[in-house]
Amino acid sequence: MAKEYVKSPMNYIGNKFRIIDQIQKWFPKDINTMVDLFCGGCDVTINTDAKNRYANDINYHLVEILEEFQKYSTDYILGYIDGRIDHWHLSKTDIEAYKAFRQYYNETKNPLDLYVLMCYSFNYQFRFNSNHEYNNPFGKNRSSFNKTMRENLIKSLDKLTDVHFTTSQFQDYDYDVLDTGDFLYADPPYLITCGSYNDGKRGFTGWGEKEERDLYGILDDLDNRGVNFALSNVIEHKGKTNTILKDWYKDRGYHLHNIKFDYNNSNYQARNKENVTKEILITNY
Ligand SMILES: C[S@@+](CC[C@H](N)C(=O)[O-])C[C@H]1O[C@@H](n2cnc3c(N)ncnc32)[C@H](O)[C@@H]1O
Repeated sequence: MAKEYVKSPMNYIGNKFRIIDQIQKWFPKDINTMVDLFCGGCDVTINTDAKNRYANDINYHLVEILEEFQKYSTDYILGYIDGRIDHWHLSKTDIEAYKAFRQYYNETKNPLDLYVLMCYSFNYQFRFNSNHEYNNPFGKNRSSFNKTMRENLIKSLDKLTDVHFTTSQFQDYDYDVLDTGDFLYADPPYLITCGSYNDGKRGFTGWGEKEERDLYGILDDLDNRGVNFALSNVIEHKGKTNTILKDWYKDRGYHLHNIKFDYNNSNYQARNKENVTKEILITNY
């Protein structure tokens, strides 16, 4: 029977849900310890079985929400969310209600409130100004804590209970949790595309060639220690090539797997080379 995947209730930008089956087919079987080094909304963590699961992301606002999800029962969390929606009159159309709740969150900073706020925001993004105030605009006529998000949340809560979360810069992460035969999944910001979490303007450092090379150095160390890794990335995008990535995986003899995904209109893309995005998975096993 085909595996049923669970979608994270975060709708996180850059999440891997749309290609989860394609990347998981290359994951090792019977994983003892797994690290999801750039976990984001945790779509990969919650869909991967392992005896011990660790998830890390520098975005502590996001990780705080996931940790709150671990602390409380499903009934408590759903009751809390419904209570907030009622009390603040949140809806798809009421921008003033959204703004009032956003201001309240920025004064009080409860992670569960941030989750509710994010559900009504533009593209469900975690955008903060330099004072660490949430400043994502309203998701008018589009975003809400709808039936699908509720179902995704209920299913995800069960899958998150035993995950150990951290909020380290990947360079400072404690890789000693991994032994020979264990597994690390890395889904970093992509050097040649642009996501709102990698421009360095949200109170987190950006992603450039230094970070790219640091990460490959760490993956090489893990390889030398007999740890398995899989790295998601984009190797070509709109006429640009990530040559650091290309040289590295070839030099080290790692394996490249192509991932298929229609970003826009695939027929149009096929005709127009400038628009091609080549998404890949690199493994060392
Ligand atoms: C492509 S997203 C990961 C998406 C995730 N796999 C999912 O399915 O939702 C990349 C993540 O890397 C995190 N990140 C960026 N720079 C980082 C750093 N230096 N150390 C650790 N995490 C970082 C971002 O906060 C972002 O959540």
